[in-house]
Amino acid sequence: MLVVQSTQNLTLERSLMRILSGIQPTGRFHWGNYFGAIRQYIELQTEHEGFYFIANLHALTTIRDAELLRQLTYDAALDLLALGLDPDKATLFVQSDVPEVCQLTWLLMTGTPMGLLERCHAFKEKKSKGLTADAGLFNYPVLMAADILAYDANWVPVGQDQVQHIEVCRDLALSFNHHFGEAFILPEARVLASAAKVPGTDGEKMSKSYNNTIGIFEDEKAVRKKIMRIQTDSRPMEASKDPETDHLFQLFQLMGSEQDIADMAHLYRQGGFGYGQIKKALADASENYFAAARDKRRELESRPDTVRDILSTGAKCARKQAAAVLARVETACGIRSKTLA
Ligand code: ADP
Ligand code: TRP
Repeated sequence: MLVVQSTQNLTLERSLMRILSGIQPTGRFHWGNYFGAIRQYIELQTEHEGFYFIANLHALTTIRDAELLRQLTYDAALDLLALGLDPDKATLFVQSDVPEVCQLTWLLMTGTPMGLLERCHAFKEKKSKGLTADAGLFNYPVLMAADILAYDANWVPVGQDQVQHIEVCRDLALSFNHHFGEAFILPEARVLASAAKVPGTDGEKMSKSYNNTIGIFEDEKAVRKKIMRIQTDSRPMEASKDPETDHLFQLFQLMGSEQDIADMAHLYRQGGFGYGQIKKALADASENYFAAARDKRRELESRPDTVRDILSTGAKCARKQAAAVLARVETACGIRSKTLA
């Protein structure tokens, strides 16, 4: 049994560390999302207690089309389950199904310095481009802090771009604990090893904002076409090439078998082969790599009730946790009577 201690008085007994992470349903998931984030969440579910959610409240800061948001939220659930997130091992839910998180957001916001949020990158970047930001984007890190603190999470696996938000979360929890006594467990960021590494079809970081993505569940023919159009340099066939610096090879490394990767690296160094060859190998490897997930997704698509049941069971479990934390926090700060706690 692990004893998880915040700083002084608050101790929780657990048999496993609690891992929590969220992913926004702002588009269909691409290879960058999978190899940079989702794959690790799924690996962690076997060793730790996992809480994973689809951050639709965060997505609402960018998607203003109700049907699209509903569809993307459902697709995200199907994708995660098809890729191996196992509801018997981890809790999968939709962020907005736990309204306690919004209540906690307000409590945290009352003690959040404006300056702290003004320094956060999403807001800062928008402002620096002369664009007007709304309060949702400004307060985005507070909602994210509530997401984490509501479940007494210990570790938060995230990409490098989210580390600043975990720091904000820790600052808010520390400040609240300082004023009202131990109410929150302090979480730690676990930066994902391969985050920010997956290149897109133009060689830059794969991202939906750069329009260079390859979708995990995109039609196989469309994927093959995209791979065939991946930009390459124009060195002659016979020149030897360094595989490590080539984005096609980097993608192949994620999906090929060990032997195929070694053979391909040898071909690069030896020269005398064309990029068409690795493109074809990459398309074959990606089809093979995601074949089981595609089958699983097709099977889940035919059972929408099962998917809804999984999300509703996940939400029930998540709400129970969040309600207990909210009671503790509301009692600590004096908006809930001690007898009701
Ligand atoms: P996008 O850049 O397409 O908008 P998100 O910001 O929604 O993607 O990313 C969701 C998760 O996927 C984050 O944890 C992020 O770090 C990870 N991720 C996104 N793109 C990549 C990439 N090219 N390489 C590695 N990780 C990525
Ligand atoms: N902001 C995260 C992203 O864009 C998604 C997210 C929302 C999240 N709440 C979270 C991640 C809590 C980890 C923990 O990727």
